[in-house]
Amino acid sequence: MSHDTTSMRPHRFRPAGALKGRIRVPGDKSISHRSIMLGALAVGETRVTGLLEGEDVLATAAAMRAMGAQVERTGDGAWSVHGVGVGALLQPQGPLDMGNSGTSTRLLMGLVASHPITATFVGDASLSKRPMGRVIDPLSTMGASFEATVSPKGSQTLPLILKGAYPAVPIRYRLPMASAQVKSAILLAGLNTPGITTVVEPIPTRDHSERMLRGFGADLSVETDADGARVISIRGEAELKPQTIEVPGDPSSAAFFIVAALVVPGSEVLIENVGLNPTRAGIVEVLRQMGGSIEELNPREVGGEPVADLLVRHSALKGIAIDPSIVPSMVDEFPALFVAAALADGVTTTTGLEELRVKESDRISVMAAALCAAGATVIEQEDGLVITGTGGEPLAGTAGAIATHLDHRIAMSMAVAGLVSRTGVEVDDVRPIATSFPTFQSMLEGLGA
Ligand code: S3P
Repeated sequence: MSHDTTSMRPHRFRPAGALKGRIRVPGDKSISHRSIMLGALAVGETRVTGLLEGEDVLATAAAMRAMGAQVERTGDGAWSVHGVGVGALLQPQGPLDMGNSGTSTRLLMGLVASHPITATFVGDASLSKRPMGRVIDPLSTMGASFEATVSPKGSQTLPLILKGAYPAVPIRYRLPMASAQVKSAILLAGLNTPGITTVVEPIPTRDHSERMLRGFGADLSVETDADGARVISIRGEAELKPQTIEVPGDPSSAAFFIVAALVVPGSEVLIENVGLNPTRAGIVEVLRQMGGSIEELNPREVGGEPVADLLVRHSALKGIAIDPSIVPSMVDEFPALFVAAALADGVTTTTGLEELRVKESDRISVMAAALCAAGATVIEQEDGLVITGTGGEPLAGTAGAIATHLDHRIAMSMAVAGLVSRTGVEVDDVRPIATSFPTFQSMLEGLGA
């Protein structure tokens, strides 16, 4: 699962004719992680259909097994999780290998923090650079203790050893950055902490943890305070009830195909079963503001989340200034959006993207370098990119391979850029795509690329 640099798999994504057809993207990554984690804490069998079988989610499954849960794929392609109960996670016998997955790491740190166990967390080169202080700080206040690696820049990173506190101390914590991972880590720690643990969220982020915790029977309330911040409280020592969960399609995976269909002339693609939780759907709104034709068909609810089929047609896109308040609802979609901007007519300005610098790679500078190498006009600023689009003309394409820095979303975004280029775009390594979207390349080929 950890990708070394000796066996990198480069690939050139070539210019494509119109993309036509219907696809169904894999299950939502955030919801898949949470369904395994909460299933592992409920006594009895939780059944999950539509689970994303990507490396990140498999890392969560392996970790929950190492802490006592039974997590297995059944013959019909569903997943079965037999949980141990809140408070009953077992001491893992070896290090928990989180691979490339920040979500697995930070959420599981929350779970371990209020159990009487000690766990070592390790990950690949990308994950080992990412800041963990943002969860170490609140979880330390709850009583957990940490021995983390300190990076040359002074931030706390993997590998780290976490000694859980039992009993942990409930806290009220105001999030200093918009992060669903930090919010979720504290709520998950709160599950096994006596009393009420509260997270104050000034800027709303994805709310899958809140929805699913309630679905499993946790006593969780969400209120809005006088300043408009969300105040989320969970009562600890909860008893979770096993559930049947249907995971909707991942809007973050759909985003690559939405952008591809918008920018490749003549395309018309139906993307079925896309999760459109308002805390995730910013990309659809922004692409519509740019002139994209995205029709929502058959709106419905799947697994407690709003879902629709999206009919996307090639459109002449216009550059816009993107309102920074929409960033949290499309935080993972900026690499794909940058590609749309590079092919739009006029200038697209993005601001408020500081969090992109601490994702699987520094997505501001890595996308700036990749798009420039492909012939786009891009100015990098501290908190975003300013991109002057070609007005639909193909990009030149890359001479050599662009560096993806073990970041799946950089690889998939630049694959889309290659479809509207003269010579194609070569990415240095397509292996990380399997962390979130193992079928990406075959699905693209299926549409005619
Ligand atoms: C996620 C939260 C986001 C997102 C990540 C998944 C989650 O991270 O980028 O891909 O499932 O909670 P941050 O909490 O760092 O914003």
